[in-house]
Amino acid sequence: MIVTTDQLYKVAYKKFAVGAYNINNAEQCMGLFRGNVMSKAPFIIQISKGARKYTDKRMLEAIIRSAEGIFPEAIFAVHLDHGDEETCLDCIKSGFYSSVMIDASHESFDENIAITRRVVEAAHAGGISVEAELGRLGGVEEDVKVDEGSAFLTNPAEAGEFIERSGADALACAIGTSHGAYKFKGNQRLRMEVIEQIANAIPGVPLVMHGSSSVPQSEVERINAAGGKLDPSARGVHEEDYLPAARLGVTKVNIDTDGRLVWTRVHREAFLTNPKEYDFRPAGKIFMDEYAKFIAHKNEKLGSAGQLDAVRAFVSKK
Ligand code: G3H
Ligand code: 13P
Ligand code: ZN
Repeated sequence: MIVTTDQLYKVAYKKFAVGAYNINNAEQCMGLFRGNVMSKAPFIIQISKGARKYTDKRMLEAIIRSAEGIFPEAIFAVHLDHGDEETCLDCIKSGFYSSVMIDASHESFDENIAITRRVVEAAHAGGISVEAELGRLGGVEEDVKVDEGSAFLTNPAEAGEFIERSGADALACAIGTSHGAYKFKGNQRLRMEVIEQIANAIPGVPLVMHGSSSVPQSEVERINAAGGKLDPSARGVHEEDYLPAARLGVTKVNIDTDGRLVWTRVHREAFLTNPKEYDFRPAGKIFMDEYAKFIAHKNEKLGSAGQLDAVRAFVSKK
């Protein structure tokens, strides 16, 4: 059942975090639904602009609708990840999405507010919510490159004015993380104290953590043992930090890179072990199993595992 992202936020806020997982194809979609049903967790499917272009935006929508039929017990929201204004409006108009993210964080404070406000008005008229971003993450955000030197954290003192003037429903914050496999160098880390200050500045507003992959060392090692050349210094967010962050107000945790690592490990190992193989389905089947296990594991760490009945009760009361 597709629900609004807002409904998931209401159940989860300050109790647990909802996993927001990016998908691009049918195998990821199958693994995602299986993992969430297995762990009895609500979840958010994220679709990026790149994912909408990878095959065709209608293909992903059809895959998700099919999965909804195959897994009637699943409760989830569908979210546009890192949208620009045009893509947000297209998603709002489609009637398929539960929420959109407008990423105008590369603009000035006032321009970010103005763009976000326009998207909020259209989204609210369509009955869906908006995630906006304040502050800049390090690393690469789709086509927006932010080098590490110029990455800056969300200023808690600006958060209240931003939410009030923009009308955004959730806030993506720069709290020390970045996208991809290389998040931290030296003593860089997730900035729990900044999360707390932002949460105190905008009580009741769900915070969103981008760049939340944990980049498990074991995954990097297995990929490299099977022919990969990832930098072994790759590091991510400690999974043990998810739940403490959730209790402070981080209600949506975005995970993409870790799923890509599962895909890379499974396929590298499968074709290394069977070099004569050219049928992609045996590896695809392993991937769907491994992806489902990966999702169930993440949900345990996020605290969303086992929350499906609470969400069902909340949604059916409405
Ligand atoms: O934040 C970016 C997400 O990981 C989506 O990545 O734009 O390559 O689909 P993508
Ligand atoms: P990761 O690269 O850490 O998986 O972050 C994904 C993300 O923030 C998607 O919006
Ligand atoms: Zn992101």
